[in-house]
Amino acid sequence: MCDYQLKMDLPPRPELFDFHGISMTKYVTATWERVQNFKARPDDVLIATFPKAGTTWISYILDLLYFGQTSADRLTSIPINKRVPYLETTDVYIDTGVDLAENLPSSPRIIKTHLPVQLIPKSFWEQTCKIVYVARNAKDNAVSYFHFDSMASIEPEPGDWNSFLCKFMNGKVIYGSWYDHVNGWWKKKQTYPNLHYMFYEDITEDGAGELDKLCFFLGLSPSAEEKKQVLGEVQFDKMKNNKMVNYSTSPWMDFKISPFMRKGKVGDWKNHFTVAQNEEFDEDYKRKMKDPSLHFLTGV
Ligand code: PPS
Repeated sequence: MCDYQLKMDLPPRPELFDFHGISMTKYVTATWERVQNFKARPDDVLIATFPKAGTTWISYILDLLYFGQTSADRLTSIPINKRVPYLETTDVYIDTGVDLAENLPSSPRIIKTHLPVQLIPKSFWEQTCKIVYVARNAKDNAVSYFHFDSMASIEPEPGDWNSFLCKFMNGKVIYGSWYDHVNGWWKKKQTYPNLHYMFYEDITEDGAGELDKLCFFLGLSPSAEEKKQVLGEVQFDKMKNNKMVNYSTSPWMDFKISPFMRKGKVGDWKNHFTVAQNEEFDEDYKRKMKDPSLHFLTGV
């Protein structure tokens, strides 16, 4: 009965529209002026990703690194989307991302965004904030995005897998082209040293090594024991069962369709792509991904 009640109250799925050349919905643009005028502080840490690239994973890692030892109670009482606000969102059930970020009592503030590099509020650059970007291979990213859009009613209707894949390839999903997103941030790395570019697949493969590089970038020196604790906490199954990070507190996600913490694997795309889809995708990929220095592992 409760589920039925909940569904009746959910707003209709939003339309996608072009906004500064990027596909967006009203949930991302409604507070645009405030987002663009957001006053970053020099010690803010910004997490930037294309949706479904491992944002929650890295958010939790950063949260544990900064606050795991000193404010353990926040880990068990405040959901991750309030600890690490999603800057440009206007989730109908919690405060806007800007309000949450402005009212964060912690320091540093860890803030999440999915914006492409050219739309990042200028104060983050002016304050030379540290930025952690996480990228995930296009095929797994597309699969994860499809399942998310299927279960999350604040996302546009995804259609079936084939039509979603076409939309993904054409940048007709929220935040536009995956190809432009990962390339735009990759280029930025050449001119902005305070950007740490990570890959989902590397974290899967060598969590300890990636954690060391991340700590070096952030200027943190956790003990071996603290690092072990962090790595233990952020294991997929541990996070899947942790109500404070698995989004089970979000009313607009229907876990009966797909859980937020779905599989957490590299190479799950092979269970979704047909041979024809894969060939077409690879051809298109070659045309769009010209920079040989930006290379993704896909689990093959
Ligand atoms: S969102 O909505 O954009 O913030 O989503 P995001 O957190 O970026 O991506 C969700 C996907 O990341 C997977 N995930 C993990 N994988 C491995 N290990 C850990 N600890 C982990 N935490 C989150 C999550 O399962 C989603 O991927 P899929 O492939 O759908 O399982």
